[in-house]
Amino acid sequence: MAEEMRIVLRNYGKIDPLNIDEYINAGGYKSLEKARSMSQPDLIEEVKKSGLRGRGGAGFNTGTKWGFSYNTKADQKYVVCNADEGEPGTYKDRIIMENDPQSLLEGMAICGYAIGSDKGYIYCRGEYPYVVEILNKAIEQAKAKGVLGDFDIEVRMGAGAYVCGEESALIESIEGSRGEPRFKPPFPPVIGLWGKPTIVNNVETFANLPAIIEKGADWYAGIGASAYPGTKVLTLTGDINNRMVIEVPTDTTIREVIFNYGGGMAGGKKFKAVQIGGTSGGFIPEALLDTQIDFNSMGAIGATLGSGAVFVMDETRDMVDVVEKITKFFEHESCGKCTPCREGTKRMHEMLKRFKAGQGNSDEMARMERLVRLCPQHACAVWVRQPQPRY
Ligand SMILES: Cc1cc2nc3c(=O)[nH]c(=O)nc-3n(C[C@H](O)[C@H](O)[C@H](O)COP(=O)(O)O)c2cc1C
Repeated sequence: MAEEMRIVLRNYGKIDPLNIDEYINAGGYKSLEKARSMSQPDLIEEVKKSGLRGRGGAGFNTGTKWGFSYNTKADQKYVVCNADEGEPGTYKDRIIMENDPQSLLEGMAICGYAIGSDKGYIYCRGEYPYVVEILNKAIEQAKAKGVLGDFDIEVRMGAGAYVCGEESALIESIEGSRGEPRFKPPFPPVIGLWGKPTIVNNVETFANLPAIIEKGADWYAGIGASAYPGTKVLTLTGDINNRMVIEVPTDTTIREVIFNYGGGMAGGKKFKAVQIGGTSGGFIPEALLDTQIDFNSMGAIGATLGSGAVFVMDETRDMVDVVEKITKFFEHESCGKCTPCREGTKRMHEMLKRFKAGQGNSDEMARMERLVRLCPQHACAVWVRQPQPRY
């Protein structure tokens, strides 16, 4: 297997995740100290300059987002870590939290200082009860050591809804309401949890911060693709030899990911397609495998980087079957708030079941294409990702 570049997973396998002393001995919490010696605007500028962009799917510049909350006057602000990780085939946040929870806590505390918040929440998916235990122990140890100062962190558990990974549905869920996305704007950095400025960042985004503050923005900005610098933690699944988590610079190509890290196609079969970024990502054919796995390059070929799930399919996969399963997932997970999604995912799944049974026709094909673009609200962007014509 080709060599990885580990920034987020730098402590993976090297320290005992449940022993804060090992994290501290490895240099842990020095970055928080350094961050607190800087002025808040300088710290935010440093994060902006590093080019770090969200690792949860939307790829927004992290420092810029923090700036919105910093510049909003309020008596209370919040830092929320999105650990919902509901995207099928994605398990990178679990690996980060299981192996190095203190990196995440340190990253959140750096954000807390930057925006002027003394309260953080980690929203962890309900399917990870053992991760919640790890996080609670890590928080307990950090509090006992006093390393977080006056920054408090609590864990909140999801209840199995995919849509609760969307930041505003997640906020609704923490508030105790049903997990449904809010219409935007306003965006959470200005009006978020309990109406207060709130930064929601992904686990991997936060876990990058200690290294960025320690080594500096220029160091980070020089790694990988310039428009989306740093590394990306990817989860490899499907018909390849090595199904595993890897961390690679963002200028690594999809072909390198599959063949140099993933060990190539299992059983010597031929490659058919790869889906990156989770269930709503596009299918990438062989001809596009030399695309870099950075956010912009993926967007340029009509695909997504998303959460970094890499699902590889060999020549024996029936694509209608794959798509039918995906629509079944979306039908099941639609929160029901918006009619096109609540009704549309159901109709879509019905049609795909007919196609799978060999009963499809060109009329239904046209209906499917029309239906897939019918999401005028764009509350959560599950259904379609770009603004589409209304019908
Ligand atoms: C349906 C849906 C599900 C999402 N699920 C997740 C998730 O599981 N984890 C995550 O970090 N972001 C998820 N997101 C993206 C979040 O809304 C948000 O952009 C992200 O948490 C921001 O953090 P970042 O800037 O660090 O990426 C999801 C978005 C949508 C529309």
